[in-house]
Amino acid sequence: SDTMIVTIDGPAGVGKSTMARLLAAELGIAYLDTGAMFRAVAWRLGDGVQHWEPGRLEEELGWIEFSLEGSGAETRLRLNRNLVGDEIRTEEVGMWASNVATMLPVRGFLKSAQQNLGQRFSLVAEGRDMGTVVFPDAPHKFFLDADVKVRAKRRYDQLNGMGKPADLKALEASIAKRDEQDRNRAVAPLKPADDAVLVDSSAMTKEQVFARILEVVKG
Ligand code: C5P
Repeated sequence: SDTMIVTIDGPAGVGKSTMARLLAAELGIAYLDTGAMFRAVAWRLGDGVQHWEPGRLEEELGWIEFSLEGSGAETRLRLNRNLVGDEIRTEEVGMWASNVATMLPVRGFLKSAQQNLGQRFSLVAEGRDMGTVVFPDAPHKFFLDADVKVRAKRRYDQLNGMGKPADLKALEASIAKRDEQDRNRAVAPLKPADDAVLVDSSAMTKEQVFARILEVVKG
């Protein structure tokens, strides 16, 4: 296909979504928040999914279809007919998402959904395995990282901004646990692609990170 894909991977709360939105707006293409896809699936399936009888998970996944509309900051993701909204933006749903993200049928389903979208739309795709597994041929790949304390504080401010106050210490513990689970799972673990550009944003502003990304993409 002749779509253009840029990938941004990294741990929780590192600013992937912000960078994906900014870059998508700059390039005039859509962004794909694949963490939101895992969160929306986890939200829809509920948290008993680990105990389901064989076959039920595949059947339930068969009823799910993702679609994308618009571009730049106005990109909208839908699960079936429903906009994926802020109800999935809690650390609790993040942990459910991380749990279902270890399940093979879920990963297989979302990988094809993401690749299908990538065939139809040019994308800035952000997540954990965009550069390694889903879009290994992408011409530009980034891996963002930052100290867990810095990431917890940013996520804390973001949740506060959405009117969902959180406990900073608890948030940091949960993020650390989720990263550890994401880094150590057997399938599609969180890690940089060999050809990814690494950016540690612990001591950088948003503007500096974006400038670095633009510099690479625009050559
Ligand atoms: O990025 P976000 O925090 O919204 O992602 C939620 C969870 O979804 C992650 O902790 C991870 O377990 C899972 N995920 C994944 N692969 C992706 C994106 C997210 O496994 N590409």
